[in-house]
Amino acid sequence: MCGIVGYTGPRQAYPVIIKGLKRLEYRGYDSSGVALLSDGNLKVYKKKGRVTELEEEVIGKNIEANIGIGHTRWATHGEPSDRNAHPHSSASGRLAIIHNGIIENYAQIKQELVKKGYSFTSDTDTEVLLNFIEDIQKNNHNSLEEALRIALKRVSGAYCILLMDQSDPTTIIAARKGSPLVIGIGKGEHFLASDASPIIEYTKEVVYVNDYELAIVKPDELILKNLGNEKITPYITKLDMELAAIEKGGYDHFMIKEIFEQPSTIYDCLRGRLDAEAGTIRMKGVEDNIEQLKNANRIMIIACGTSWHAGLVAEYIIEELCRIPVEVEYASEFRYRNPIVHKGDVIIAISQSGETADTLVALEKAKENGAFIFGIVNAVGSSIARISHAGAYTHAGPEIGVASTKAFTGQLVVLAMMALKIAKEKGTITDARHHALILELADIPEKVDAILKNAKEIEKIGQVYKNASDFLFLGRGYNFPVALEGALKLKEISYIHAEGYPAAEMKHGPIALVDENLPVVFIATKDAYHEKIVSNMQEIKARKGKIISIVTEGDEISPGLSDHYFSIPSADELLAPILTVIPLQLLSYYVGTAKGIDVDKPRNLAKSVTVE
Ligand code: AGP
Ligand code: GLU
Repeated sequence: MCGIVGYTGPRQAYPVIIKGLKRLEYRGYDSSGVALLSDGNLKVYKKKGRVTELEEEVIGKNIEANIGIGHTRWATHGEPSDRNAHPHSSASGRLAIIHNGIIENYAQIKQELVKKGYSFTSDTDTEVLLNFIEDIQKNNHNSLEEALRIALKRVSGAYCILLMDQSDPTTIIAARKGSPLVIGIGKGEHFLASDASPIIEYTKEVVYVNDYELAIVKPDELILKNLGNEKITPYITKLDMELAAIEKGGYDHFMIKEIFEQPSTIYDCLRGRLDAEAGTIRMKGVEDNIEQLKNANRIMIIACGTSWHAGLVAEYIIEELCRIPVEVEYASEFRYRNPIVHKGDVIIAISQSGETADTLVALEKAKENGAFIFGIVNAVGSSIARISHAGAYTHAGPEIGVASTKAFTGQLVVLAMMALKIAKEKGTITDARHHALILELADIPEKVDAILKNAKEIEKIGQVYKNASDFLFLGRGYNFPVALEGALKLKEISYIHAEGYPAAEMKHGPIALVDENLPVVFIATKDAYHEKIVSNMQEIKARKGKIISIVTEGDEISPGLSDHYFSIPSADELLAPILTVIPLQLLSYYVGTAKGIDVDKPRNLAKSVTVE
């Protein structure tokens, strides 16, 4: 994954890079480093751990430079350590590189280089790539750009790399395949980064670099080329993002800020699309492709993690409202089997970051097979958004906390609106039900707000169970995927082992885990399954498990069976997941923080998984 930043222009490069790296730390935080070039000298500083540790490391050192590159790492090849930290220097010390991605055939290239007498100071695939480039340059007297082009034709895998050459005082050379790169265009200066967050305070004009493109970046010149050395005209887009959206705004963590933002992010997602009074929904991506969507023989949803859970909820909603068969696939599984994709199939891709490598490659594969791809993405201009045939943004704004929260509820809202629109066109929903659901959707932001007002109650429950070693999350129907999501959130943020299950499936195995030490979270809102889930609660109670339940206001049965309960406003069962997930997000946040865990950057994870 990794975050990369580069700068060339009249400013001091170091402060721009450090600030940018802090914004990109969500992408990885195993180590960080910078390479700065001044007076023909390349200075490389790097350190295991967070960017703040790098800052301490460079105190008193020479950081004067108007050009530099910086990296925050999520280790794939070689443990997190000072020596594996990027930037890496070439054998001659003349070149410096940072890299986001994996060079899959690095071992073979390394062998060739070792035979030629090269030795390596790190265990990374990145250092191999750099020396490979230098070797080509040395042997053939190529320019760095030519050597890079030759090298990239030989490597397989994914990369976004930035390169500096000590004999070229103003140029950064960049290349991408599979890992993102944005270039900010300033006045006589350029900024390079994995996403726009390090760039927005300097310029709103950006170029998204595409796969197999090379960028030669100087303060007052940006040249884009393909690997065949043909020039490409850079396509400049305007960023629609404010600085405040990527800062904590008084909250202790991004995660809690993002949880509390949900009334407004959901509102933003509905805004301009849902007209409650008229009873209509406008979604251009759906309208322009309505024939394709409503006549789909089958819909396949492809995603990972939390986005996959949103896909599972969508399976229930779309099958119910549109009567189209839906399959939900883990992108990582889809891409490596031999899936049957027909021409009339529609693929819905769901992704917060729009950069998840597994999802991206799965989509490329489906596209090759002729499928129509509809992307539901949060990050504007991201790779998945760009390779989709059509799509709808979730409009949740930048999500920085590693645990996905506001993006998930945004995904559910988009999917519900999309299903309603298709159902209406297809004639599989009555006007009355269609209108009722539209009114319900319009009320969701207010209901989420009401839930958040009682967050303290969840905090207390979190305190009680923070030392539990396991948790079980149970739900049925639309709330089964929410049980999975509750368990995933808790694992990620509190390191407590948790499992999500369909409540009725519990008796086929997991019930063996139940004893007086096991907290069991029931999503027990009033819906068609309510009586059934009450029976499941009885089964847990009979075995002395501790019951925490999420119930509908006014429910007189479930609270009586629970050790702790949390009430939420009633909602149509089809939309209930947008509400029931909120207390579970809060629970994981409060348990995680009570345990002293850095919930925005939990161990081993990264926000945007751009490696396989
Ligand atoms: C969510 O809390 C996770 N960190 C993770 O499962 C995430 O949802 C997954 O990696 C997919 O990411 P995407 O939505 O950006 O594609
Ligand atoms: N493969 C490189 C490394 O391990 C980069 C990793 C990444 O992009 O996360 O250092």
